[in-house]
Amino acid sequence: MCGIVGYIGHRKATDVIIKGLQRLEYRGYDSAGVAIVNGKIRIEKQKGKVAQLVKVISANPMQGSSGIGHTRWATHGEPNDVNAHPHTGQKKKFALVHNGIIENYDAIRKNLESKGHVFESQTDTEVLAHLIEEIYEISDTDFITSVQLALNEVDGTFGIAVVNNDDPDTIIVARRGSPLLLGIGEGEHFIASDASPIIEYTNKVVYLDDDEMAIINRDSYEVRTIKNVTLNKAVHELEMSIEQIEKAGFPHFMLKEIYEQPDTIADCMRGRLVVSENRIQLGGIAHVLDRIVNADRIIIAACGTSWHAGLVGEYLFEYLAKKKVEVEYASEFRYQNPLIDEKDVMIVISQSGETADTLAAVREAKSKGALVLGICNVVGSTIARETDAGVYTHAGPEIGVASTKAFTAQVTVLSLMAIMIGQKNGALSEKKSAKLIKALNEIPEKVKAILEHADDIKKMSELFTYAPNFLYLGRSYNFPVALEGALKLKEISYIHAEGYPAAEMKHGPIALIDQHMPVVVIAATDHTNDKMISNIEEVRARKGRVIAIANENNSEVANLAEYTIRIPETHDCFTPLLTVIPLQLISYYIAVNRKCDVDQPRNLAKSVTVE
Ligand code: AGP
Ligand code: GLU
Repeated sequence: MCGIVGYIGHRKATDVIIKGLQRLEYRGYDSAGVAIVNGKIRIEKQKGKVAQLVKVISANPMQGSSGIGHTRWATHGEPNDVNAHPHTGQKKKFALVHNGIIENYDAIRKNLESKGHVFESQTDTEVLAHLIEEIYEISDTDFITSVQLALNEVDGTFGIAVVNNDDPDTIIVARRGSPLLLGIGEGEHFIASDASPIIEYTNKVVYLDDDEMAIINRDSYEVRTIKNVTLNKAVHELEMSIEQIEKAGFPHFMLKEIYEQPDTIADCMRGRLVVSENRIQLGGIAHVLDRIVNADRIIIAACGTSWHAGLVGEYLFEYLAKKKVEVEYASEFRYQNPLIDEKDVMIVISQSGETADTLAAVREAKSKGALVLGICNVVGSTIARETDAGVYTHAGPEIGVASTKAFTAQVTVLSLMAIMIGQKNGALSEKKSAKLIKALNEIPEKVKAILEHADDIKKMSELFTYAPNFLYLGRSYNFPVALEGALKLKEISYIHAEGYPAAEMKHGPIALIDQHMPVVVIAATDHTNDKMISNIEEVRARKGRVIAIANENNSEVANLAEYTIRIPETHDCFTPLLTVIPLQLISYYIAVNRKCDVDQPRNLAKSVTVE
């Protein structure tokens, strides 16, 4: 799930690997470790942050110019020093790091135990290290073949990197379901589970696909399938810059990313929103536009925050493009025997482009003949590569585990798509689309205006730092924003929070309301204003503490609420791009006040590559 880094070249391997692991910290993890090859493999691993590992290594430096490193997000066995990676085989000839899950580990473990293997950890990963070594020792095969034979026996997902005492100038990596890429330098090679550890050394990368492996030496590398077919892989150029993955003076990546939104939304629309011609141009899907327009329905599948963006998309597509939309949790999609065929279009949304559940939905929909489009942020990610067509969100690297700028970029892409489809199928008149295009074009400035009042939000948030619960209510376009506001607060401050369609409150959650319950009411769409006012009254009648997000001239709401955060007016359908900003800030400030680890909240991973 989390991170892999590897290096072979002329530099001190621990320096490159530790720095790389620090670059991957944002992905969320619970322990870290390295294996350095210097005559003999030496392993250091520790529960906790990479900083802990650095302490241990500083006390007893590790020499060597080749090695592998790992940040673990525990799936099998609690986070502790023993379960941390790298893991070794019985004779400690091999060291292996692994992201993912070996599903049949128990059967393999029992079989190896019957042959005398003794396991030190509770992990599924250690079983694979033993298996590779067993095959190498017993069947007298070479390093590459042993890895291939072992991988052919495992079920599940893996991104692995392996080093071998007998072959100190080689690192072998392989993947199925967990991302891995190779960075190509001069007399040196890098491996990593995403580009951030590599970018400061080289921008030339090779992305491994499922069931592929690479055999890496200092001066050369080779890619084969796990079944041993040699491949000629394209070398890609990374467009990311090192500044994009640093904090630029902000105390946290999350705050930096919240503040980047005027730019990221503008970047997402650049060259796509052609205001002068009243036109939307989305090159990535232009060639399949007819198929989208003629589709029976659009199914949107995603997880977490991306699923919330998908829910906003449903309102946008149905209102602007008059297209029938269903939004599914990607994780549920393939287990519900989905009725989907070639007349349907699926849109998957994923910041990382690596989410296992979403990838599984892509594959299911493709196998049934549907056209599958991707809305991804990470260029070259697996979902971006496996979908038939798509649109990148261009939000730049999102390092904070809690998604912020990726959400607004996703909603921006969905807005662009909805207008483009609506124009094409006649659902939108020239006049109406001109109004919408103008409104969308003004969004970045309006986001900036909200951010200028961040201090007021900060002050107000202080008052709610120790609230044990929060309720978020919204209607129509802002119901998904209520869900997103609650998720953001849960993720980073660990306060229990629920999002509800405002009208649902009276069907249950109203029982929770008393003088201790903060209720964030998103009352920013004109067409639901009266109903929201009634909901605010209902909360007030039970002494709930109303924090309203309202349009700047909505004095009715402001008079009723205990606190009002004002947002500039826009077209109702684009209000989510504005209303979500204060909610991100409220969560951020509350989490900081509670001294939570904002960028790497407990138990969470940035990219969830297990099902
Ligand atoms: C967002 O704050 C979350 N950490 C999480 O819900 C996330 O949106 C989800 O895991 C989906 O990730 P993806 O967009 O990379 O597919
Ligand atoms: N399943 C492995 C473990 O629990 C790997 C987890 C990961 O992806 O970090 O150790």
